[in-house]
Amino acid sequence: MNNIAIRTENLTRDFGSVRAVDHLNLEVPKGIVFGFLGPNGSGKTTTIRLLLGLLDPTEGRAEVFGYDTRTQAAEIRERAGALLEHNGLYERLSAQDNLDYFGRIYRMPAAERAARIEELLTHFGLWERRTQIVKDWSKGMQQKLAIARALMHRPPLVILDEPTSGLDPIAAASLRDDLLSLVEQEGVTVFLNTHNLPEAEKLCSLVGVIRQGKLLAVDSPDRLRAQGGSPMVEITGSGFTDDVLAMLRSRPEVAAVEVTNGRLRLDLHEQIEVGPLVTAIVTAGAQVEEIRKGSASLEDVFLTLMREESQEA
Ligand SMILES: Nc1ncnc2c1ncn2[C@@H]1O[C@H](COP(=O)(O)OP(=O)(O)OP(=O)(O)O)[C@@H](O)[C@H]1O
Ligand SMILES: [Mg+2]
Repeated sequence: MNNIAIRTENLTRDFGSVRAVDHLNLEVPKGIVFGFLGPNGSGKTTTIRLLLGLLDPTEGRAEVFGYDTRTQAAEIRERAGALLEHNGLYERLSAQDNLDYFGRIYRMPAAERAARIEELLTHFGLWERRTQIVKDWSKGMQQKLAIARALMHRPPLVILDEPTSGLDPIAAASLRDDLLSLVEQEGVTVFLNTHNLPEAEKLCSLVGVIRQGKLLAVDSPDRLRAQGGSPMVEITGSGFTDDVLAMLRSRPEVAAVEVTNGRLRLDLHEQIEVGPLVTAIVTAGAQVEEIRKGSASLEDVFLTLMREESQEA
């Protein structure tokens, strides 16, 4: 009970005839990075707004640290820093004045504000630029500052709505690194909306997959990936004769063998060392040039989940 940061029970929200969130039952433990993964319009932002008490549920309920979102939104916002679709920064204020302003809202004493501003801006590599006006900053720098803002009053929960959207890959990677190290350092719980699969894989220890307001799966990225099919090896080379293929098919670890354009694809029953397999192929007279090991990516699993659901709908 006490180790749960967020709990929803049949949480549902309609906009007219559109059911944006559909009987969501979710528990997010404290101290982890939770990724809420879904395509455009699947209900991610609506869920965040429900959790922060910015919207009322049509049906069901949600609580954050045990506080009810309908009646205790003020308690929740004391404990949750949020970065929503609009970054909430004041463009004409400097970086440090932006943070100072939010620190005042949360009634942080002056010395504590100053120390926290230095700590956060240093962490995000923005300390040298603290007196600059935010308007002229790059989008990546603004997003980092917006996350710093969300963390300013040391909330135990941070809610981020697509924090890297619109950033180039380098800026996004840099923001992710800074965010991850900060989260580890401060032990906060993170609820992160994303439709970016590599982002979910890198940051999140638990991922919920949502489509059309419905939760399809909740699991670690590793376990989700494990559901997505067996591992495989792809070998480029020559001399993949019928004898070689027959020898491979007879091996217990091999589930399926296929050759296309000189490329040999082996589906395996489980993740294994490929060394003995390669030795057997070479011994049987084939030439091996390149070996690539693979398994289902989270993207494969995500796309499969999306397809399965739309077939049922
Ligand atoms: N204020 C609103 N009024 C009417 N419909 C809304 C409103 N907010 C959201 N919706 C609808 O609810 C559904 C879910 O929207 P939501 O913004 O939660 O999705 P999302 O997963 O955040 O999408 P995206 O990845 O594009 O940000 C959509 O069909 C959207 O059009
Ligand atoms: Mg959204």
